[in-house]
Amino acid sequence: MYPETRLRRFRRNDGIRQMLRETEWQFTDFIVPQFVVPGTKRREEIPSMPGICRFSLDQLLLEMDDPIYQTIGGIILFGVPEAKDNSGETACSENGLIQQACRTIKRHYPNIPLITDVCICAYTHHGHCGLIDHAGNVDNDRTLKVLAKVAISHAEAGADIIAPSDMMDGRIGFIRHELDSHGFNDRLILAYSAKFASAFYGPFREAAGSKPGFGDRRSYQMPSSNRREALRELQEDVNENADMLMIKPALSYLDIIREARERFLHPIMAYNVSGEYSMVKAAARAGWIDERSAVEEILLSIKRAGADRIITYHAKDIFRWERGGRGG
Ligand code: PBG
Repeated sequence: MYPETRLRRFRRNDGIRQMLRETEWQFTDFIVPQFVVPGTKRREEIPSMPGICRFSLDQLLLEMDDPIYQTIGGIILFGVPEAKDNSGETACSENGLIQQACRTIKRHYPNIPLITDVCICAYTHHGHCGLIDHAGNVDNDRTLKVLAKVAISHAEAGADIIAPSDMMDGRIGFIRHELDSHGFNDRLILAYSAKFASAFYGPFREAAGSKPGFGDRRSYQMPSSNRREALRELQEDVNENADMLMIKPALSYLDIIREARERFLHPIMAYNVSGEYSMVKAAARAGWIDERSAVEEILLSIKRAGADRIITYHAKDIFRWERGGRGG
């Protein structure tokens, strides 16, 4: 007790503070999202996500020459197709955007872990994550078949990790079974298990052209009020043999990350989503916060909550800051 106990001794100088750090991050903790567009020579900055681009495949390959890609944990691909339908078939096509991207990336960079987002929202006119039935509702069980086809097409193209983000019930078990029966029992499934209906996806939907054309996603994504329900979602995906679990978004759900860490032995991923990124960028640009310190604090908080790996748009900036020295 004070005055014998003085916790300020822990903070006396930089060396001591450094020595006593409880939480660290390293570049392999970060997974970088990439948006792939059709065509060539396209490298388009997303207006609501400064510093983040949509790439055509040729440009993505050039981008991946950057040494950061040899140090990070992996990349996760999102397709931004021009052609859409209402069946999700375009998402499964052997020569689709993501399928081509997987083949090419694997040829050039076989050692970078390649994750693909499995969902149909960017591939459908209505922009929902599942098929729509006659009554205008998302048809869970019919959607599973399409998702499994998408997953198999990604696995055939070389994806290492399949990440379904649709929030349909039963999809992890269904996709696992289909992958295995098509000879892909060596591919991992990263389940977007506790994915909340969030205002923080706004910039992503602009980037991916995946905004729902009618209604919203609240009949499949989780309400932010519900912690126990989130734990059931995580438990379900564990029961269905997910290899890794994800909580998304990260910052408003640090309690769920912590609880998942304590309950499950699986690797826990957190998705530091687009709106979380854009808020930091906007405030930094306005001169209201110091970007580097804010980003470091955010990423440490996600790790401290218990995430093993973080999907984040900040990775390139961190790399630049670290390699370029302070203020670089
Ligand atoms: C699509 C999907 C979304 C994100 C990842 N996959 C958006 C959504 O559900 O509307 C969001 C990622 C981000 O905001 O960075 N199912």
